[in-house]
Amino acid sequence: MPSIAEYNGVPLNQLFAEEKQGWSGYVEWENYPDKKAIASEVLKRNKFTPIPEFQFVPLPDTNPILIGHRWKEYHEALGLKYIVDHSWDIVQKEKPDLIHLLDFPYNGETRRDQLLQGKVTDNMYHFVRNHGGIPAIPDDVFELEIGGLVNKPVKLSLKDLKDESKFPQAEVTVTLQCSGTRRIEQIREYPGDGDELINAPWGEGAIGTAVYRGVPLKKVLKHACGGVLPVCEHLEFIGADTYFKKGDVFNYAVSVPWRKVRANEEVLLAWEMNGKPLPKIHGAPLRLVVTGYIGARSCKWVYKINALKEPSMGPVQRQEYLYYTSQLGKQNVKYSNGFSIQNMPVSSAIIKPSDKSVIVHDGKIHLEGWSYSGGGNWVERVEVSPDGGHVWYAVEENDLTDKHFHAWRLWKIDLPVDAEGWLEFCVRTWDSSNNTEPTFVRSAWNWDLHVTSSCHRIKLYSVNTTRPATKRRLELLAAYGEGIEPLTRPFEHSLEDPEEYLENYRKHRREPKD
Ligand code: MTE
Repeated sequence: MPSIAEYNGVPLNQLFAEEKQGWSGYVEWENYPDKKAIASEVLKRNKFTPIPEFQFVPLPDTNPILIGHRWKEYHEALGLKYIVDHSWDIVQKEKPDLIHLLDFPYNGETRRDQLLQGKVTDNMYHFVRNHGGIPAIPDDVFELEIGGLVNKPVKLSLKDLKDESKFPQAEVTVTLQCSGTRRIEQIREYPGDGDELINAPWGEGAIGTAVYRGVPLKKVLKHACGGVLPVCEHLEFIGADTYFKKGDVFNYAVSVPWRKVRANEEVLLAWEMNGKPLPKIHGAPLRLVVTGYIGARSCKWVYKINALKEPSMGPVQRQEYLYYTSQLGKQNVKYSNGFSIQNMPVSSAIIKPSDKSVIVHDGKIHLEGWSYSGGGNWVERVEVSPDGGHVWYAVEENDLTDKHFHAWRLWKIDLPVDAEGWLEFCVRTWDSSNNTEPTFVRSAWNWDLHVTSSCHRIKLYSVNTTRPATKRRLELLAAYGEGIEPLTRPFEHSLEDPEEYLENYRKHRREPKD
């Protein structure tokens, strides 16, 4: 990629310099329209690697699965390659054992066995979704600026925020879910929008639960800013990472309605995750945790909050995370004809066994998974079907983890299964508002491939040893030193000896007599 190290004689590292002492990987864009215009100009002068096709073709069998060439090149073109390098160093340190869906901006998914470790996900295994690099901002130089439609704009250090005599602290158990969770099921059904950032082809692991400690934003606005002005309707959060959209440069920006912030302890400024300082990759030193909402609103590396009349104009807020009807697509889609996803709907997934497993059992198959609902709804009932969704069995209350207003419940069930061969299992969850999940992926397919909330389905090959013929065949296989797996490997011996065959044939003729 040809890149230019200067623009009109001025070096790029001077033009797009870091300006806050000690803050690394942060370039301020939103305060400087002229600087943004120059960055767009520089980007225009470069050619970038096309966005990879991964929907019409199989995903590579590698880890990282996808490589973010284009996003790296955007950074490089602006003289910000050090951000790319630093980010990958952090991934290796903080998340060595995730499924690396995309190397940059980093998107990593929790492995299935780690998803079910416990109600709370270990920090090392919690999924990550980034739109840019990972800034490094030491606690002692960090500063949060709050302005816009507030009575008193302020700047607060981390020490101020942690001062319990100023702000009461709160600890909340929260499930964060990316609205792209289980997107791969929509892609497999029908390919959809191919965003330049790469709408990651997530499986069931873009969800995790942690106990976050911090201060409710409501209290900070009240005690530090003397409240918001009556015209304020939205709070905008700006993160220190650099984001790109159609040739322009931004800091990550999103917003939530003031009505959400006003609800007690639902929007937290957090510095601690599961009793430990927030990891760098999860937004250190300070992030938003917006309960019940799509993960995108929980802004990481937040350094600025603006009280606004209207939602943020940032592309992540206005142009992305939109939910379209299935008849909207490349031919007619606009930013204004999809609705903005906020509360997450009820959804669930079967994590164990994995799809296409062969299960040898004695009339019961053990399944485990997660169920979650956003918007302050909690999981009331989980039902699992062994026949594609006609007959449902409820998970016993004792086999679900505790209820929380804003967190998932893990569940397990020994499901009665008599039938053999390939069966389709699915799960559906009912939440406290009696919402449940659409039956099929197609029922809720949408162009941007968000919120795959339909019943999660897996196919299992059932081998029921309570059936005498099956028991005999398994014993025979064992006697030959063979197993039922791999299922597709042919049985090396004859299925029936000639005498037995003839006896059976004569007892039950294949052709009628007359
Ligand atoms: N905040 C900033 N500044 N930059 C980002 O890229 N990604 C958002 C959100 N906050 C993002 C961000 C998205 S889309 C999700 S799903 C969550 O962070 C993921 O949080 P996690 O990476 O801590 O799991």
